[in-house]
Amino acid sequence: KRPAGAPDKGLARTVGKVGVVGAGLMASQLALLFVRRLKVPVVLTDIDQARIDKGVGYVHAEVDKLLGKGRISPDEANRLKELVTGSLDKAAFSDADFVIEAVFEELSLKQQIFAELEEHVSPEAILATNTSSLSITEMAAKLQHPERVVGFHFFNPVAVLPLLEIVRGERTDDAALATAFATGKNLKKSCVLVKDAPAFVVNRLLTRFLGEVIRAIDEGTPFDVADRALAPLGLPMSPLVLVQLVGPAVATHVAETLHEAFPERFGVSENMRRLVAAGKPAVWTWDEQGNQRIDPEVAEL
Ligand code: 3HC
Repeated sequence: KRPAGAPDKGLARTVGKVGVVGAGLMASQLALLFVRRLKVPVVLTDIDQARIDKGVGYVHAEVDKLLGKGRISPDEANRLKELVTGSLDKAAFSDADFVIEAVFEELSLKQQIFAELEEHVSPEAILATNTSSLSITEMAAKLQHPERVVGFHFFNPVAVLPLLEIVRGERTDDAALATAFATGKNLKKSCVLVKDAPAFVVNRLLTRFLGEVIRAIDEGTPFDVADRALAPLGLPMSPLVLVQLVGPAVATHVAETLHEAFPERFGVSENMRRLVAAGKPAVWTWDEQGNQRIDPEVAEL
């Protein structure tokens, strides 16, 4: 059955090579998913060789884990590893049909990356973004071919969570959208078309929920009470561990975007702002009994 809003699949282009811009938390998980499910060459880039090596190393290590669990054969493991390469030079993307960026959540950076990519890729290549909250229309606005830009938003952990939000910008054409749906299906994801609105659908709901947990703590509710209050509902993971998984910087950025768009409806925790500004990668820690606590170093900020 065709997903709601998906164009005729006959319009989809073939994806024979994939480019991934970024080699961080989400980007390296995306590289793994693309190579595993599409079995096509995947080239990864980032701002320096060390980051690229780390991203490629992550994919290789995860392929080894799949081999260890007996999910793939030794031959397939070797083939998948060979298909993933890294390059500092975006010229390596010249024959890519589908390029996805998953870099820091900054509109101007993403616009600049897409503009640079246009100098290398064919006019038909799809430019996809894993943005959590930014406008697809604005990201495409200054390009020569804005019709090939599409939102392709995954959830962490990418290998496990089935949902994929596909976002159509004002100028995205049917061929790009059809390619996005066909690719999402080949990646074995459940694709939904969502409006190009701040934080789309999932992060808008999630930010409200996580934001209220953080607000309760800011207002003096004991940390463990706020974190465990909804556990009896059977959530797969505690809200504060989820903030950690998403990354405090990303979570705060999404909250800032929503606050700008809907100031009455979304606030941003000052405590979260402070610790992200201080560059703290972690917010919570665990004591000897396995209970979560606010990291004492963070508490002192
Ligand atoms: N990376 C890769 N794989 C992971 C993983 C990770 N970080 N964490 C768990 N897994 C895998 C495990 O290897 C295991 O795979 P297997 O069955 O093949 O062996 C499988 O997931 C289940 O893991 P566990 O049995 O250890 O743990 P759980 O059953 O408790 O599941 C969880 C772990 C899937 C992370 C679950 O707790 C969960 O779904 N949590 C909610 C996560 C969530 O809501 N993410 C969305 C965040 S929002 C976002 O990403 C959008 C962004 O824009 C902000």
